[in-house]
Amino acid sequence: MARTNRRWLLAERPTGMVGPEHFRFDQVPVESPGPGQVLVRSLWLSLDPANRAWLAPTPTYKSAVQPDEVMHGFALGRVEESGDPRLAPGDIVSGMLGWQDYATLPVAEVHKEPAGRDPRHAMGVLGVTGLTAYFGLLEVGQPKVGETVVVSAAGGAVGSIVGQLAKLAGCRVVGLAGGPEKCRWLEQELGFDVAIDYRAGNLRRAMKAACPDGIDVYFDNVGGDILATALFLMNERGRIVACGNLSQYNAERPAPGPMGVPGLVVVKRLRIEGFIVTDYYDRRAAAEAALTRLLASGQLKAVEDVVEGLEKAPATLVELFQGRNRGKLLIKVA
Ligand SMILES: NC(=O)c1ccc[n+]([C@@H]2O[C@H](COP(=O)([O-])OP(=O)(O)OC[C@H]3O[C@@H](n4cnc5c(N)ncnc54)[C@H](OP(=O)(O)O)[C@@H]3O)[C@@H](O)[C@H]2O)c1
Repeated sequence: MARTNRRWLLAERPTGMVGPEHFRFDQVPVESPGPGQVLVRSLWLSLDPANRAWLAPTPTYKSAVQPDEVMHGFALGRVEESGDPRLAPGDIVSGMLGWQDYATLPVAEVHKEPAGRDPRHAMGVLGVTGLTAYFGLLEVGQPKVGETVVVSAAGGAVGSIVGQLAKLAGCRVVGLAGGPEKCRWLEQELGFDVAIDYRAGNLRRAMKAACPDGIDVYFDNVGGDILATALFLMNERGRIVACGNLSQYNAERPAPGPMGVPGLVVVKRLRIEGFIVTDYYDRRAAAEAALTRLLASGQLKAVEDVVEGLEKAPATLVELFQGRNRGKLLIKVA
């Protein structure tokens, strides 16, 4: 019997907050792979703030999703059929498989995962998420023992790892997260020195109290008001790691840049540096090995939030922006 591919298409480009109404579910027969292609059964789909950024009409570091196209998404799956000797049925691969049960795509567009790895870790702490935290903090942020590191979206996928790595680097670590429970969890379970509920108001006073010696590294996942506040508390020669801008991904028009740029940047000799994790992929194997060691020794905790069912992808993406997740948000597709 012909296999069916269930998939989510972009129905309409959102202008403000993304919602389930912007997607359309359909079913088509599974496509067999041609020469140089593989057919991959999706198993785990990563939900990321960037999914929303890819729905804007202008391309980001990758092309924008077009209406009636399968929603783009990073996923891990199992090769079912192969038209190329480099991959065989049963191999586990990751790549832009999209929001669908099956993807037929060129072999060159997938990455073969090492055997025996927990697929949730492959999508989280040992995948893009962990590598983003690792290279962003250590290479771009360059924290030194005794310095103060602040991270926003601290309870999320990248932030929860940044905070733990910064503690391991001997820093005082302050996280920003939504709600008192998430903040308690960051302090009690993940070892943050202080977690600030950024929704509770009076952000500047709370950040000042949490950083009596100022901020040396601000790992910025969100942009917006938190970046604006952090800028005023930066120490001379401080580093701002520009990782993401998620407070603006659903904005109809991005908020104007923060006050103090360039004034504070000049006076305090700050470095604000953006990066994309793939910039560092020539050193991916060494970083994966370091993260694997930390995980195995129990010095690093992997946190995953799993939702079952491809059909829940749009609603779960909305919940990501409402702060539902602790750690890496994943959809278990099969
Ligand atoms: N540069 C790169 O190569 C690269 C690679 C991967 C990811 N990123 C970026 O890294 C950032 C974090 O990604 P992630 O996958 O780890 O996502 P995430 O933090 O797991 O998920 C989003 C979290 O952000 C918080 N949040 C939502 N809206 C917010 C707002 N307006 N202000 C402050 N916090 C808000 C929510 O938690 P609360 O409960 O705290 O609100 C939510 O749980 C994103 O900006 C993403 O685009 C960059």
